[in-house]
Amino acid sequence: MCGIVGYLGNANRNGVDVILEGLTRLEYRGYDSAGICFRNEKSELLTIKSVGKVQNLKSLLELNKNRPISNMAIGHTRWATHGEVAEKNAHPHVNGKLAIVHNGIIENLYELKSYLQAEGVQFSSDTDSEVFLHLTYKFFNSGASLKDAVIEAFKLIKGNSAFLVIAHDLQEMIAIKRVAPLVIGRNSYQSEVFVSSDPFALIGYADQLLFPEDEVVAVLTLEEEPQFFELNGAASKRFSTQNQQMHYSDLGKGSYEHFMQKEIFEQPLLIKNWIHHYLEGQGKKSVEELTKLLSIRPEKIGRIHLVACGTAWHAALLIGDMIERTSRIPTNVQLASEFRYKNPILHANDIAIFISQSGETADTLAAQELCKRADLFTLAIVNVANSTLYRNSHFNLLTHAGIEVGVASTKAFTLQVLTGYLFSKILKEREGFDRNQFKHNVYELLQNMERGLDRAGEIAAIASELYSKKGFIFTGRGPYFPIALEGALKIKEIAYVHAEGYAAGELKHGPIALIDEEMVNIAILGSELFEKTLSNMEEVRARKGIIFAIAPKEFSEVRPRLGNHDFYFPLEYGKEVDLNPLYVSTLMQLFSYYVAKMRGTDIDKPRNLAKSVTVE
Ligand code: F6R
Repeated sequence: MCGIVGYLGNANRNGVDVILEGLTRLEYRGYDSAGICFRNEKSELLTIKSVGKVQNLKSLLELNKNRPISNMAIGHTRWATHGEVAEKNAHPHVNGKLAIVHNGIIENLYELKSYLQAEGVQFSSDTDSEVFLHLTYKFFNSGASLKDAVIEAFKLIKGNSAFLVIAHDLQEMIAIKRVAPLVIGRNSYQSEVFVSSDPFALIGYADQLLFPEDEVVAVLTLEEEPQFFELNGAASKRFSTQNQQMHYSDLGKGSYEHFMQKEIFEQPLLIKNWIHHYLEGQGKKSVEELTKLLSIRPEKIGRIHLVACGTAWHAALLIGDMIERTSRIPTNVQLASEFRYKNPILHANDIAIFISQSGETADTLAAQELCKRADLFTLAIVNVANSTLYRNSHFNLLTHAGIEVGVASTKAFTLQVLTGYLFSKILKEREGFDRNQFKHNVYELLQNMERGLDRAGEIAAIASELYSKKGFIFTGRGPYFPIALEGALKIKEIAYVHAEGYAAGELKHGPIALIDEEMVNIAILGSELFEKTLSNMEEVRARKGIIFAIAPKEFSEVRPRLGNHDFYFPLEYGKEVDLNPLYVSTLMQLFSYYVAKMRGTDIDKPRNLAKSVTVE
């Protein structure tokens, strides 16, 4: 949560523009407020902040007749934790001499704040971040270099954070982090240096990326290569270097109205690329290595823990089910925020799989740490290469979903499940992994998905009948239960309407009380247990609930009408196809997209959310 960006360069580029562009790209990390602080030619630090999206900040700057120009600037886009959404709580925090931006949480805020207040420090915001400004200034003002002042302040704070600090009289930026993401960018053609929470903000600016490890302080100037130091002041080699792998083409939404829409529709192409990568491309190596790693006898593996948050947890539920059905190895699917505090039973012969789009989710990272301490083999199914989760895992399977800009996850979910499916097949078949059959299954999904997306108009028409209803209860059994959970989450987050996902058989144990003429039941009928789900649907019908049924095509021959609205998909009774739930999930993504559009919400940046949840 929160995005930080920094620029120090020569006169060829205006740092203010770099920061505004960077903040626009980092807005997915939070959009409660945005701010920029830059140094002018008189060595003064000037700050402009505004509540709401980065566009508000841009408009403020455009109103300014003398458009600011600077060669050193830092910026921030906020997802509020401490302190309401207000200009005074927007970053950067500045005291005239120093300016800081912060992503993360200072856990010992109250203790440090009382200490500073007792020394006469006045606070002008309610944020935890401002504590870091005053602590750093205290050391800086007593003669420490900016680097040493940041180190001393950093040693005093608890919690996971990334900071970027500048001073009015220095041409340097100091960056440091613990767990929260931070990347430094350089380019080969100009003397300039960039800092960001995500390489995404640096596309087109930096071709070389440097990732400092935790508690390594980076000193960035124009005279020298970035310098890294340990907290004891010694030079550090704890950073990694990588070339920028993202391109301009990753930035736009093409002809689509929303990123979420684009991301739903690009799924078939991504699946095609994904299967090529793992079966014929560079990913072949990962498949071979994983086969080797898993070529131990099944009885040697204890349990497989699958840990994640939100949508990624729904993917974990599906993957856990795939593993149990195919390999009969017990799985333990857990929400990371619960798992990390429940003193889980872990044995060294267990495997722990962490699923994450961003690879920066605080709870997932903490769960991973816990498993590593218990000597478990850890594997990440992760989208962002080089993210913290990726770097800390023993083995990674990248999902290759590309950059997901829409805050609500769509394509990332699909590719997480597919990647988990690959894992489950390798685990089951090991040396005998049947690539042709696997490819056939994935292509079947691909073709169905393409046909499903071609029918988006039908889903939009159903959404137009239902979008104003009071609430939505999604139901499904077996692998369609996680799809029901995911469908409900999607519609909640982007359409701001109450929704629940339930195992179809659970409805009568309570939630059926919610059913009336204004409540919609989205009933997903798979090819297995369909009679049971059908009965559950009838229970809703008897109570005048509105039914949107999604069912195998054969139903249309037996019963021309299932619910008030029906959508039939190409699947035969009793012949469940491994990946069909993903096809249905795409329909659910479309449905929530259209409902949200009709309700007029901010689809790509739904209120109160941020894409990367780096606080617990
Ligand atoms: C919902 C959504 C979230 C994320 C969750 C985990 O659409 O995107 O529920 O799935 O915050 O994030 P990652 O996958 O980055 O760990």
